Amino acid sequence: MFEKLQAPPPDKILSLISAYAEDTRPNKIDLGVGVYRDETGATPVLETVREAERRLLATQKTKSYFGMGGDPAFCRAIVPLIFGTDAPSDRIRALQTPGGSGALSILMGFAAKLTKRIHIPDPSWGNHAAIAKHSRLEILRYPYFDAATSRVNFPAMKAALEKAEAGDLVLLHGCCHNPTGADLSREEWSELADLLIEKKLLALVDLAYQGFGDGLDEDAWAVRHLASRLPEMLVASSCSKNFGIYRDRTGAAFVLGKTSQEAAVAEAQVMMEARTGYSMPPDHGAAVVRIILEDEALYAAWRAELETMRSRIADLRRGLAESFRRRTNSAAYDFLMESRGMFSLIGVTEEQAKRLRSEFGIYLVDDGRINIAGLKEDQIDTFVEAVVTVKG
Ligand code: LMR
Repeated sequence: MFEKLQAPPPDKILSLISAYAEDTRPNKIDLGVGVYRDETGATPVLETVREAERRLLATQKTKSYFGMGGDPAFCRAIVPLIFGTDAPSDRIRALQTPGGSGALSILMGFAAKLTKRIHIPDPSWGNHAAIAKHSRLEILRYPYFDAATSRVNFPAMKAALEKAEAGDLVLLHGCCHNPTGADLSREEWSELADLLIEKKLLALVDLAYQGFGDGLDEDAWAVRHLASRLPEMLVASSCSKNFGIYRDRTGAAFVLGKTSQEAAVAEAQVMMEARTGYSMPPDHGAAVVRIILEDEALYAAWRAELETMRSRIADLRRGLAESFRRRTNSAAYDFLMESRGMFSLIGVTEEQAKRLRSEFGIYLVDDGRINIAGLKEDQIDTFVEAVVTVKG
């Protein structure tokens, strides 16, 4: 039977991992997959994660099942991290998931029982549409990014969502938009909340890079604002990047209901999605996160480690923008300083992105997305020169 199959196209982001690894050029630069790298190019295990792992090893008494929603203590600890300490917690239910993708997957599967359509920003992380398609949701794109200014086109976004139908699902990036790095302002989020309420749209917020933009609480502002105003909402969060536990697959799915009772029923429905998808989430990463969040000193130390990662990216953004200014004698790349998180679109075509790879050993996604954290300070000028060269 397998002879009938055709190989799917390679994943545009993940295929870069092996392509980069196979490249033998010593001066190659990896700006592909979204993982944090330090100045030596390493993606280290955080010290607080190591300490939590030591404690886990020393104290864990069983590896018996927790259930479909994962570790209840993890779920309790993660709510204030995302929703803040003033959260309407009686209306929020949390489930531990295999990474942010696991959360998106069960939330979209759940939403597909209520609605047929999802609005996804143009552009967005490729897996959003892929998961939506898998959940049999009809995908509509709303304009988000203006390539001419490298900033959000909020009027166009609003105009498109004005036309959405009551009950439609709307995917939003909570912070550090992937792939553009361009986020809504607080005023825009607030206007968007008005629109979501008026049009009765169901928001699904993806919060995968909390702590990499303006700070841990600042980056959760949008989610918290929406949670304070919307009657119902879904949130997918990831611990992959901010705890640096990528392959441990740790995230959470949240349901905000109109009442505690409705939230509990919705949670039970989301659990059914987990049960048929993977049954129960892996424990290790979530146990590490729980240990960190439950211990005041470890929590403070983790925040400091996250801040080191965040400020390195902010420095690189400044350095990049300044280098482009010097090289092009223009402010055309100043948007790099304004955008947030690991990613920005550098404004190259697919062909130019391929040329950067083949001629210069610079790996970026075909849409021109760069992972800023992949740069070392002394590679900035080389990178800028290569971009200017291929753009001609
Ligand atoms: C990315 O956008 O590079 C990361 O979220 C990794 C992935 O799964 O695509």
